[in-house]
Amino acid sequence: RRVVVLISGNGSNLQALIDEQSHDRLGGKIVAVISNEPDAYGLQRARDAGIDAVVLPHREYESRDAYDGALIKVVERHEPDLIVLAGFMRILTPRFVQRFLGRMLNIHPSLLPAYQGLDTHARALADGVTEHGCSVHFVTEELDGGPVALQAAVALADDETAASLKEKVHAREHLIYPIAVKWFLEGRLQLGAEGATFDGLPL
Ligand code: GRF
Repeated sequence: RRVVVLISGNGSNLQALIDEQSHDRLGGKIVAVISNEPDAYGLQRARDAGIDAVVLPHREYESRDAYDGALIKVVERHEPDLIVLAGFMRILTPRFVQRFLGRMLNIHPSLLPAYQGLDTHARALADGVTEHGCSVHFVTEELDGGPVALQAAVALADDETAASLKEKVHAREHLIYPIAVKWFLEGRLQLGAEGATFDGLPL
């Protein structure tokens, strides 16, 4: 089973997946890492692991649609069974999403459907929530709105800051993303007509 990972930055979630793969626990192979940012550190992580690292800078394209057209080509060249968004900071066009519907996962730093969008940690903190976390979800045309596959929650400490919360949640991301990817590659996690399923049961 072939996996393509899309990134824009540090790539710590990518690293978690690479680590699983290096222990033969991923159930598939990361065949390429694609970044829209030439300086993304995740590209180095990919190279260090012997994975094809591809830069596709969005600034070189006139429109979102032109960029996504090019991205579709690069992705398809690698014939992925699964596309993993790991800190890919671009909104994908409906054309892209439709092309890979049911084969694309994202991780978002909140307990979806709460806190879609950016600055999730600061917003959760400002609201005084007692619990925050992260979600792996299928990508659909609704931004951060696709069916949730797996979540991890963290409790907020009394002296919690946005930075400390981010760090806590990040550690959970590194735990749950490899699990969800493995479930998908094993055929256990799927996107059905009614949403995400695990072993055929609705999640
Ligand atoms: C994570 O917080 C993830 O939830 C969000 O982007 C960030 C990526 O971090 N989608 P990293 O590049 O994997 O370290």
